[in-house]
Amino acid sequence: MEFSTLTSPALATLKTSALAIGVFESGVLSEAADALDQASNGTLRALIKTEFDATPGSCLPIHAVNGISAGRVILLGLGKQEHYNAAVHAKAQGALAAYCVRAKLSEAVSTLAAIPTPDAPLIARARTAARQVASATYHYDATFSQARPAPKLKKFILHISRSDASAAQAGLREGAAIGAGMALTRTLGDLPPNLCTPTYLGQTARDLARQFKTLKAEVLDQRKIEALKMGSFLSVSRGSAEPPAFIVLRHTPPAAKAGTKKAAPIVLVGKGVTFDSGGISIKPGPAMDEMKFDMCGAASVLGTLRAVAQLELTREVIGIIPACENLPSGTANKPGDVVTSMSGQTIEVLNTDAEGRLILCDALTYAERFKPAAVIDIATLTGACVIALGHVNSGLFSRDEGLVQGLLAAGREALDPAWHLPLDEPYQDLLKSNFADMANIGGRAGGAITAACFLARFTTKYPWAHLDIAGTAWKEGKEKGATGRPVPLLMQYLLDQCA
Ligand code: BES
Ligand code: MN
Ligand code: ZN
Repeated sequence: MEFSTLTSPALATLKTSALAIGVFESGVLSEAADALDQASNGTLRALIKTEFDATPGSCLPIHAVNGISAGRVILLGLGKQEHYNAAVHAKAQGALAAYCVRAKLSEAVSTLAAIPTPDAPLIARARTAARQVASATYHYDATFSQARPAPKLKKFILHISRSDASAAQAGLREGAAIGAGMALTRTLGDLPPNLCTPTYLGQTARDLARQFKTLKAEVLDQRKIEALKMGSFLSVSRGSAEPPAFIVLRHTPPAAKAGTKKAAPIVLVGKGVTFDSGGISIKPGPAMDEMKFDMCGAASVLGTLRAVAQLELTREVIGIIPACENLPSGTANKPGDVVTSMSGQTIEVLNTDAEGRLILCDALTYAERFKPAAVIDIATLTGACVIALGHVNSGLFSRDEGLVQGLLAAGREALDPAWHLPLDEPYQDLLKSNFADMANIGGRAGGAITAACFLARFTTKYPWAHLDIAGTAWKEGKEKGATGRPVPLLMQYLLDQCA
């Protein structure tokens, strides 16, 4: 995909197959729409009055308008002018991108980014535009016998005033990288669990390191994981014939300027359960296939590092992924088993389906060696989080006020929101075990919180935040598929840390 800007003022004589303009409700035209209406001698305004209600997300192509050179003018509804904001802008750009794909267009020009929003500067709107195009052109093709036609859209152009061009270009560059990162995250999520194994995730990290010179990949095998004494992680992976992988993918920024002190790295830890059957505490059959998405935390770490590397961010960022399957077998964890984590703390496995925390705890201990400025883990950790927040917000847990505010703000700006949930001490009581330092479950009440409390016990050496993405990482039903979240949130946070 090629993203670019265009600053020529002459919209009416622009030669393109599709020129998109914004229209508010009650016939209020954006500046670009007004200019085109004048060139068409009022044809557009008359058409809008009778044919277009301009609700947010609505889209109406009009072919061959008199006085306008573009092959078609695409009306995009922006809702009420007084309510117009970054979210409506994103919806309209999304509708445009979806239309372009449906109509098999190879190129489109959008005038939307130029319309001001109270809650987002131009650079953010350009980022959003590129991201929406990247999302609409996502294409899953790995496991069909016959190739499916790929989207034709190859060129996306923002029409913008000359003084705004450089901000728009910066936004497009960032949005394109975030979009490519999300596409990787979605592909890994969508791939079936017999293909997307721990080994496959490791290979993906290696491939990224080959593609981007700032990235270095290290994939630890079973023997090395044993040498690190990751007894909790290994207790889960032991139930499957598929070998585990412990992946470390490191972005080292291009030489920092002389005299500037190197900042401590930001570490991202992603849950990489490539299939979660529940183990001996086996899950019910319906929708169990969706547990192939239980590696979406890992996939979001790989997607984010891809974007970080493409943008050559100036902060060191390290991705850590414990990857394995959770299956029942003669060697699987049994309820009542006590395992010893890398930290030395012992854990009574009361439910083998609470395996995410069992693999993450050892990765969180491993993270200590990097003396990180912050550690953020990302995990499809609990069904309880889906009950609490639905599919809109990811759950955010942290006792570090800076991380909480930084991640919430990043989520808002990137339209990839998170909601802060509590992590108070009293919840820790629910993890009491009669036979080990802690149990791996705390009962049904506050399930997302007790899972986070469990992880907190392994994160005392650095500022830490936990994102539970069980409700946001994928969609169910007819549109089943990975969403690429929370790559936008993470990238916005990292961009903010580099600013
Ligand atoms: N991967 C699941 C969490 C999950 C379930 C995400 C459904 C999205 C949809 C996790 O490993 C799990 O099974 N958690 C259990 C924990 C329980 C046993 C304490 C859960 O949420 O039921
Ligand atoms: Mn589970
Ligand atoms: Zn799981």
